[in-house]
Amino acid sequence: MLRKCAAALRARGLVPDAAACASRVQSSWLQTSSSSQHQSDAPAEGQETISVTYIDKEGKEHTVAAPIGKTLLEVAHENEIDLEGACEGSLACSTCHLIFEDEDFYKKIAEPTEDEQDMLDLAFGLTDTSRLGCQVLACKELDGVRVRIPSASRNFYVDGHKPKPH
Ligand code: FES
Repeated sequence: MLRKCAAALRARGLVPDAAACASRVQSSWLQTSSSSQHQSDAPAEGQETISVTYIDKEGKEHTVAAPIGKTLLEVAHENEIDLEGACEGSLACSTCHLIFEDEDFYKKIAEPTEDEQDMLDLAFGLTDTSRLGCQVLACKELDGVRVRIPSASRNFYVDGHKPKPH
């Protein structure tokens, strides 16, 4: 049975693979034991979420409820976590670079496309478990995942542009 999550290619108009991440709606959010909780843009009531922990550039952990089907970039922005995303998910930069702390979680997601790999090659501090946050969807298999935001990024898209959440 396929247990890999789909990579989001929304910029190209591809719809996330709902089947790969589909599940029943939960009645409550997953609770976590992090040092920081954010609820600035709460998921809709009844919306299924997973727990995602972002480790920021200062090493501070932010554990949030990530709605299934949203990209890790969108979730970061909705929770005011400082992940750049200069091209807003159009695969034209590498500023949404995230590093999966646990290789087991990394293996659960679909491999990066060639275009994502090309952008990743430009990323600062590339690792074997690097991905672009705008290309990875929250899905059940990633519940409990921890991702690190590198201490720096390279922005070839629009220098210094930091999109604001909508
Ligand atoms: S936001 Fe530019 S590639 Fe992800």
